[in-house]
Amino acid sequence: MSGLGVEFEKSAVQGETSGSSVKKRVGVIVTCALGGSLVALYAISGPFIAPALRKICLPFVPATNTQVNNVLRVLQSRSGTLVDIGSGDGRIVIAAAREGFRSVGFELNPWLVWYSRYKAWRQGVHRHTSFYISDLWKVSFSQYSNVVIFGVPQMMEQLETKLQRELQSSARVVACRFPFPTWTPDHVTGEGIDTVWVYDAKTFKSHTTTTTTTTKLLNNSEDKNCR
Ligand SMILES: C[S@@+](CC[C@H](N)C(=O)[O-])C[C@H]1O[C@@H](n2cnc3c(N)ncnc32)[C@H](O)[C@@H]1O
Repeated sequence: MSGLGVEFEKSAVQGETSGSSVKKRVGVIVTCALGGSLVALYAISGPFIAPALRKICLPFVPATNTQVNNVLRVLQSRSGTLVDIGSGDGRIVIAAAREGFRSVGFELNPWLVWYSRYKAWRQGVHRHTSFYISDLWKVSFSQYSNVVIFGVPQMMEQLETKLQRELQSSARVVACRFPFPTWTPDHVTGEGIDTVWVYDAKTFKSHTTTTTTTTKLLNNSEDKNCR
């Protein structure tokens, strides 16, 4: 083979090698980009999907403006602390802080908590609000004088028992869209999806005390009758 032929063959082999290494590199970059995008997508959407996969599915559905106004209206005569259980993007907590409440939100989704903190800061109420990434079933609400919940029917019975046990007699509970199953509301306002039910702890606590006392009395008289 002539010297020119050998040179030509060498450069052809080199060309092939560098072509396949470029392909390999592109392959690695595409795989990394795809993997990275999937991880990012999972990190962002995961916290939004997670509540739907729990035993009690409580998805993020923000309160309407009318609903927020109804909540504020039934709390007009009240003051002190307020907690929104499952605070979403913080709209109720922030609106209440603007009305002078020391407001707190508990929320499972970290993105919503960070967004709520940012919104509170933008609206100048960050000193009057706190947002925690917490599971509502693992938090005690005993220190709050006003409690707001926009829940789902499947959780209301369990939450009723929890609040009945934890809250002080001076507390007020406001349920948005879905009422509690056994408590009798002291007041109802709004209509359709914007309805809010108001429950004063002194009412539902006195009802429990009466029921417990009646049950005890009945049990005692049954005991005596048996003797
Ligand atoms: C129906 S949204 C209400 C949002 C907000 N309170 C409002 O009225 O705009 C319920 C919220 O509860 C949150 N959530 C679901 N399960 C939760 C849990 N176990 N602990 C705390 N928050 C929870 C959801 O992520 C969602 O943001």
